[in-house]
Amino acid sequence: MYAAPAAPNVRPVTIADLKALKLAGQRFAMVTAYDVSAAAIADRAGVPVLLVGDSLGMVVLGRETTLPVTLDDMERHSAAVVRGRRRALVVADLPFLSYATPDQAVASAGRLMQEAGVHAVKLEGGAAMVPTVRKLVELGVPVMAHLGYTPQSTHQIGLKVQGKSAEHARQLIDDAVALEAAGAFAIVLELIPASLAAAVTKRLSIPTVGIGAGADCDAQVQVWHDLLGLNEHAPRHAKRFAELGAAMQAALVAYREDVERGAFPTEANSSRISPESLAEALAPVG
Ligand code: KIV
Repeated sequence: MYAAPAAPNVRPVTIADLKALKLAGQRFAMVTAYDVSAAAIADRAGVPVLLVGDSLGMVVLGRETTLPVTLDDMERHSAAVVRGRRRALVVADLPFLSYATPDQAVASAGRLMQEAGVHAVKLEGGAAMVPTVRKLVELGVPVMAHLGYTPQSTHQIGLKVQGKSAEHARQLIDDAVALEAAGAFAIVLELIPASLAAAVTKRLSIPTVGIGAGADCDAQVQVWHDLLGLNEHAPRHAKRFAELGAAMQAALVAYREDVERGAFPTEANSSRISPESLAEALAPVG
């Protein structure tokens, strides 16, 4: 049911396409995906960029933060997303402490690109990440940066809006400019004031991708479970475009009840053996 579309002549989305969208003033959407069916659905919906986010830790693996997510986790889920998509560009998060040095970042990105087949990686952090971004980009790894609330630093910065003081806002603008100069092809801006995100968006020639950063970013990213109503509580910056959690629960109740009263499976769901073959199989041997 969820097989990726068979159209062989779809042209995959490229980083150049995203830059062209920014130039044309055309906003675009990005959504997280963690498995083959989600990737195929989002791809068929025309979403041009899929993020295998390390939010995987919370929404799929039931962890409290992104910190326990490993490169093995990211590789397995990224490979599934790549197998499910036909057209969308797939970006994967470099997990916590997998890019502590530029060389380690190269090795980690190499695994995600070569083994899982993703098209780009995302990493969190400002000016301190510039040498890493530069090295990755020089070696041919497209890098998406991530500023503002950076979940891998949650214990240092707290889950709250970032960049509210003049000093922090200035720092964030400087970081964004430095990351663009280092070669990042886009920057996620998470949980920052809308007017600050608008100012950064105006300053950069690469796309900004907002989440909790107002409407003036070039693109928006949302977590799959938040926008489809699969979480009990979605954050304030998310909009529930469907209530699939409730729909899935209702379907499972119907399934359980059908099984309990013998209404499923029916003849149509069953296969047959000829009475002769069954009789032969049941006959005592010898
Ligand atoms: O891991 C993730 O899903 C993310 C998005 C929230 C941007 O980094």
